[in-house]
Amino acid sequence: MSDVAVIGAGYVGLTTAACLAHLGHRVTCADIDRERVAALSKGEIPILEDGLQALVTEGLSSRRLTFVVGAENAAGIAEFVFLCVPTPQAEDGSANLSFVEDVAREIAPVLRPGAVVINKSTMPVGSTRLVQRILAEAGAAIEEVGVASNPEFLREGSSVRDFLSPNRVVIGCDDPAVAVRVSELYRSLNAPMLVTDPASAEMIKYASNAFLATKISFMNAIANLCETVDADVREVALGMGYDQRIGFEFLHPGPGYGGSCFPKDTAALLYAARRSGYDFSLLEGVVEVNFRQHERMVEKVRNLAGGTLHGVSIALWGLTFKANTDDLRDSPALVIARRLIEEGAKVQAYDPAAGERAATLVPGLEVVPDPYVACEGAHVLAVLTEWDEFRWLDFDRVLATLGRPAVLDARNLLDPVALRRRGFTYEGVGR
Ligand code: UDX
Repeated sequence: MSDVAVIGAGYVGLTTAACLAHLGHRVTCADIDRERVAALSKGEIPILEDGLQALVTEGLSSRRLTFVVGAENAAGIAEFVFLCVPTPQAEDGSANLSFVEDVAREIAPVLRPGAVVINKSTMPVGSTRLVQRILAEAGAAIEEVGVASNPEFLREGSSVRDFLSPNRVVIGCDDPAVAVRVSELYRSLNAPMLVTDPASAEMIKYASNAFLATKISFMNAIANLCETVDADVREVALGMGYDQRIGFEFLHPGPGYGGSCFPKDTAALLYAARRSGYDFSLLEGVVEVNFRQHERMVEKVRNLAGGTLHGVSIALWGLTFKANTDDLRDSPALVIARRLIEEGAKVQAYDPAAGERAATLVPGLEVVPDPYVACEGAHVLAVLTEWDEFRWLDFDRVLATLGRPAVLDARNLLDPVALRRRGFTYEGVGR
């Protein structure tokens, strides 16, 4: 069992810390936010993430998991220091590494000999070397400190499962002995372990996310085409998915991808391509299709409303970027809500997890605590997130509440036959 420090208690850091403690390591998780650390120390977690609460509770009671304020208070006692701080998108699409750089400078003087600093957050190719350089400049005994890249592939909503049953673990390091030590942290997991150089490890993360975004944009484009030729994209996806070279996952069309990773990582990869003089028009197309898909949903709502959104009331169900998370970052639903309001619509939204926060992000958006209240007097209902509970609502009540029975099902979640039988005008995506 090893002594591990995790710097950053956000989605990635908290999941990493709780899961490593669950695997038996002694983990100190540091954050700069005092209130967050105080709450976490009492076992109160700030995010909605399946299974995470139980692991944090388990870690605290076994004393294998502790929370502290300040990176240097965790790093000094650790054999392994995971950097899990945000790498937000800068104006030009590049990843802003200032948090990573600050932490590297802060921990450099306290690292013990033999410590390994591990980049877990998604960082551009070259970041492992950058961290190495900053550590050296800031006083770490660099010949005695290892640096590695170990990208995360965690999906929000299932990050605990993804951590404990990974498809693969990727470790990028120039020193094979250090890579072996990092791999031993994951020894009890039954997963393929890929040890490679830092640049390849960093590229694996970007290429994986860009490829998944490509799959989604491709299916959104196929869905749009299906609408013009009377095909059903769900049948098409099924028929494609049986081909093992394609697979069933990430073939669901919708309002476009969002979240904290795909938009940011595709932008960062495009930025890197531009800088190196490579014309990555394929990926530019993927991003363009995604923007147009948000707009296409606005168009569908406008058509259902009778051609104009001015003065029209719209009910929205779902504001998070996907179901089973409370995360609103880069949510297509918020983009769509903003656009509807810009065109003069009155928008009332319900989301099972987003709460009032959404209203502060979209001026003019009214957030209500009940899906039926959202429908009161509305001319169109738009379902924008695939929360399972939306399937089971009372659609007779919805019908009676709506001013005009028109539904946009942007996630192909509902049963069009049952809705049409009730008298709804139903519009899905690609069907
Ligand atoms: C993603 C990656 O899956 C994960 O490996 C990485 O580490 C972080 O980014 P996440 O952002 O949590 O995870 O969500 P994911 O489930 O991948 O969905 C991303 C977006 O794509 C969501 O907006 C989702 O609704 C959309 N999506 C996904 C589709 O529109 N269709 C699909 O078939 C799948």
